[in-house]
Amino acid sequence: TFILGIEGTAWNLSAAIVTETEIIAEVTETYKPEAGGIHPREAAQHHAKYAASVIRRLLAEAKKKGIQPSEIDGIAFSQGPGLGPCLRTVATAARMLSISLGVPLIGVNHCIAHIEVGIWRTPAKDPVVLYVSGANSQVISYMEGRYRVFGETLDIGLGNALDKFARRAGLPHPGGPKIEEYAKNATRYIPLPYVIKGMDLSFSGLSTAASEALKKAPLEDVCYSYQETAFAMVVEVAERALAHTGKKEILLAGGVGANARLREMLNEMCEARGAKFYVPEKRFMGDNGTMIAYTGLLMYKSGSTLSLEESRVNPNFRTDDVKVTWIKEEEM
Ligand code: ATP
Ligand code: FE2
Repeated sequence: TFILGIEGTAWNLSAAIVTETEIIAEVTETYKPEAGGIHPREAAQHHAKYAASVIRRLLAEAKKKGIQPSEIDGIAFSQGPGLGPCLRTVATAARMLSISLGVPLIGVNHCIAHIEVGIWRTPAKDPVVLYVSGANSQVISYMEGRYRVFGETLDIGLGNALDKFARRAGLPHPGGPKIEEYAKNATRYIPLPYVIKGMDLSFSGLSTAASEALKKAPLEDVCYSYQETAFAMVVEVAERALAHTGKKEILLAGGVGANARLREMLNEMCEARGAKFYVPEKRFMGDNGTMIAYTGLLMYKSGSTLSLEESRVNPNFRTDDVKVTWIKEEEM
């Protein structure tokens, strides 16, 4: 089976062709905002400008490997969650391809794609997933036909929270990696608000308090304290999800997962609990076309395709809205 998938929920336009076992090709064009964060309409214009060339280059690379467009079985696209204008641009490109090749459309939930690509590219089988990216922060695990959300942010995603604090501190976008660098040279920990409500998280108060702390403390110490506080919060919720589900694996997903200190904290927690800790290769952590194509492939093979009428995008598409047709309980 060959599935072509297109990701474009936010800053990254990326398309890939995959089979059950192989990535045939992937082509990516990244939108880089001139200043500040992502402007949804500018990002969408970027995607519209590059969509045709990304697809053309992808098909050319596939041809070099002996795969013709006529062999493609379905077109997957990121249906949500994400920025409305970006989602609509990518959906339009996907519909055109689906019509011209005469193959079905597959609407993929972006968060689930982060999970499935991680399960594909690591030995994880049935993990508790810590998904921490720019816009999203969720602790997720499969249970009875759905990916259930055990805990999530009540306000902004951890990545956006880090980026927002970094912007106030005068650091360039994206702030996450910069904060990680500064944190390495800290000399002391400054107490900051640690906010967990039930199993849910909140980062906006932490960001505000950290910005305030900059008036009195060096940037290095605030970056360090911010990371320690925020990461301890997400690790606590992930640990409680392990205890609750009785599962034995943690899978890390999303762009914030690049952070070495977060990985270290998760690894320690897993060692203490006798759980396995899995992190996919870096190229599969941030947004990528492969994750959409591969999840599309699983969906296609289990009959989850869309008609054109059903292919509207959903900026608020929730992880637990998706009926998981491709996992057979007895195989787990
Ligand atoms: P989504 O649409 O899934 O919410 P996204 O489009 O925001 O994701 P990702 O690539 O998953 O994109 O994540 C980007 C975020 O990851 C940014 O907020 C960035 O600051 C953060 N990030 C990247 N590297 C690091 C790092 N080393 N430490 C902390 N945060 C990081
Ligand atoms: Fe993402």
